[in-house]
Amino acid sequence: MTDHVTPPSLEQLEERLKNIDTLDHDALEVESIAILGRKSGALTAALRSIPTLPVDERRSFGAAVNALKARFEEAFEARRSALEGDAGRSGLSGDLSMPARHTWMGAVHPVNQVVHAILGIFRDLGFSVATGPEVEDEWYNFLSLNFPPDHPAMDMHDTMYLAGPSADPQNRLLLRTHTSPVQIRVMQGGPPPYRVVIPGVVYRRDPFDASHAPAFNQIEGLAVDEGIGFVDLKATLTHFAHSFFGSAADVRFRPSFFPFTEPSAEMDIRCQLCAGTGCAACKGTGWMEILGCGMVHPRVLENAGVDSERYTGWAFGMGPARMCLALYGVPDIRMLYEGDVRLLSQFAGAPE
Ligand code: PHE
Repeated sequence: MTDHVTPPSLEQLEERLKNIDTLDHDALEVESIAILGRKSGALTAALRSIPTLPVDERRSFGAAVNALKARFEEAFEARRSALEGDAGRSGLSGDLSMPARHTWMGAVHPVNQVVHAILGIFRDLGFSVATGPEVEDEWYNFLSLNFPPDHPAMDMHDTMYLAGPSADPQNRLLLRTHTSPVQIRVMQGGPPPYRVVIPGVVYRRDPFDASHAPAFNQIEGLAVDEGIGFVDLKATLTHFAHSFFGSAADVRFRPSFFPFTEPSAEMDIRCQLCAGTGCAACKGTGWMEILGCGMVHPRVLENAGVDSERYTGWAFGMGPARMCLALYGVPDIRMLYEGDVRLLSQFAGAPE
């Protein structure tokens, strides 16, 4: 006797067809074999049962089974690709045992780290932060700051002018050469006292060499109040240098000239690389120039609408990139701008 196989009724199979959309990956494969499997799948069994049927039923039953088989195949396929799509979206496809790819973590650039540190020291002294535009006009950048027209001091500040039909020939637009014009903007913004630090990028027609860059950061400082004198300038900037470089840092002030300060000075720090014995970084002098400073020229106060009989003040301007070189002993300013991770990764927070 041959085994008598009782195939499930076609109605029962219709029910199972409806459920396919709810099956997960494993249940789907089990169901697919249970329905279509060549040895004992339900539809295979139904087809095998055909010879046992009365002759006049065989043809219509066979056609019905084949039609159902096609619908099952389609439903399994549709469910399979839906599950694959879900897995792709949730990131679960692929080989989960593969090692993870290395990802780069960004870090704050060393020059910006120095900018933040400098602003923090002045914030502790009660200074607030101001900013101004990188495109200035000649009045803000030069004339308000007491540069006489065509003064040779402007040669140092040769920069890029912005030509254009709307450019006023008496007051052309340019890329600012220093952050000092923001002194004027701050003073125009309200009455004294002022205690501000002003970070920003400035532009000069400087060569790109070991100690110069044509676009670089500056931090300006301005303190204006009644009764402020040169001793406040010296004490504050010396305190700053000790906070930034450490209390053993040695500073000196040298007389200098800026049109917008009188008297003017330059502050040097004893070379951090050679401790003052003389090296390439300090050009053999043992000192590194850190910033320019001075008492705000009365004409600058007046140009900004501040009563110079009543108020006095001091200002400074420094280059954080040079401070960065001095602090970390980096020998060439260009190294800071090349984006070479062998240098950048040595600063905190960078990837290994
Ligand atoms: N603006 C000057 C410069 O760029 C620096 C400076 C600022 C000097 C404020 C004195 C006072 O060189």
